[in-house]
Amino acid sequence: MSDKLIIFDTTLRDGEQSPGASMNKDEKVRIAKVLERMKVDVIEAGFPVASPGDFEAVKAVADTIKDSTVCALSRALDKDIDRAGEALKGANSSRIHTFIATSPIHMEKKLRMTPDQVVEQAVAAVKRARQHTDNVEFSPEDAGRSELDFLCRVIESVIDAGATTINIPDTVGYNIPQQFGALLKNLLEKIPNSDKAIFSVHCHNDLGLAVANSLAAVMNGARQVECTINGLGERAGNASLEEVVMAIRTRQDVFQCDTTLDTTQIIPASRLVAGITGFPVQPNKAIVGANAFAHESGIHQDGVLKNRETYEIMRAEDVGWAKNQIVLGKHSGRNALKSRLKDLGIEFESEESLNNAFARFKELADKKHEIFDDDLQALVSETSAADMDDVVKLVSLKVCSETGETPQASLILNVNGKEETASAEGGGPVDAAFKAIEGIINSQAELKLYSVNNITSGTDAQGDVTVRLEKQERVVNGQGADTDIVIASAKAYINALNKLFQVDERAHPQL
Ligand code: KIV
Ligand code: ZN
Repeated sequence: MSDKLIIFDTTLRDGEQSPGASMNKDEKVRIAKVLERMKVDVIEAGFPVASPGDFEAVKAVADTIKDSTVCALSRALDKDIDRAGEALKGANSSRIHTFIATSPIHMEKKLRMTPDQVVEQAVAAVKRARQHTDNVEFSPEDAGRSELDFLCRVIESVIDAGATTINIPDTVGYNIPQQFGALLKNLLEKIPNSDKAIFSVHCHNDLGLAVANSLAAVMNGARQVECTINGLGERAGNASLEEVVMAIRTRQDVFQCDTTLDTTQIIPASRLVAGITGFPVQPNKAIVGANAFAHESGIHQDGVLKNRETYEIMRAEDVGWAKNQIVLGKHSGRNALKSRLKDLGIEFESEESLNNAFARFKELADKKHEIFDDDLQALVSETSAADMDDVVKLVSLKVCSETGETPQASLILNVNGKEETASAEGGGPVDAAFKAIEGIINSQAELKLYSVNNITSGTDAQGDVTVRLEKQERVVNGQGADTDIVIASAKAYINALNKLFQVDERAHPQL
């Protein structure tokens, strides 16, 4: 008999801690709906005490999601826990995840607390969280560098206090698989009441070992894995959900557990998260990269044609790589668009948003004959962005690019409801367009990244542009899509500026 492995997705919380990946309420709800469709067991929606915006986002996810448990993070402090409990009130099934650091360096240098004080605060936090829900998770932060005996003492105490899940984080991604697996085994054997809680792991990828460490822990008794779509997360990221889930599914000969996930939702979720955060997926990324199932060499292609198992250990369609069918065209109506978006799990809250999406669809269909699912995903991201209260909007853009001449851009922006114009020259048309935008806005932000990917194939494909801007240590990613890559670039730059203008008073959970 195979055990159930609980999948705890933290894309909306730890994933959001990737610099520039912050998501607004509607974006979080959209991602949460795809995770629910994927049958993710627990969705960590955010850190409510961090900011009023994060509180509202967790509350909106809790009020919307019916089939997954919605979890909120809190430090081991009464005000954090109560705020988390408040945000989760409307959830069908809720969990509070509270944490305090247990490694010598964190206790001494960061918390300035003695081990006894840490145990006391951890126990008090779990008891407080139990007043809001009977589903309480406790994490000894930096467990991967904590002393085993102290870890056992803290965990035994919090289980007695009512913690139902014990999560072992390798917060700084320092562990290696054999060692991390042994840590889980030791904890389960040494802690007298370990059978009263589910043991979980949360691995960071600083040494590229997050998935390997998570799997080693599962082989040694962990029955929950915390992970993120596309491996998003603080610094080098967290264990990637798609890699953990598919490793376990594919190697049922070695794992004594399996998830109940609908893996065909992996690609839609990956695309959605990449689109919303502006973190593109590298082509050779396992499972979700564009090349993950592409066979280049003749020998491989020949083998796969004769028998796919010669070179394929998984089926592309099992993770949602449907043939990128032509779904809609210029003559498709509003209902066809609505129904295809519904199949993709996208439903608009208002008729007005659907009408905006349809207007954009018609514009796109005029430029591009065949509209694919990926085009629709990009279009929806843009429509949602346009629904936000943007300070800056692109009204029009004209670029002039000619051999032997300096490229020029002229544009009109709507800034706070007032139209302003500017022209500029640049090294190329994109450079000229960015300089023209800055001629009006003068943001003084630094351009940290500019990247273009094609959404589908063909020369009429939409370019998907990511722009990363930094100002006063704040990093934001903007996205824009269009069949004209200069326009896509201008949209991405303006999207990043609008994010910079949004107030961000978020506190970092580890502080
Ligand atoms: O990495 C970490 O330790 C965390 C905790 C809050 C679980 O994200
Ligand atoms: Zn983390």
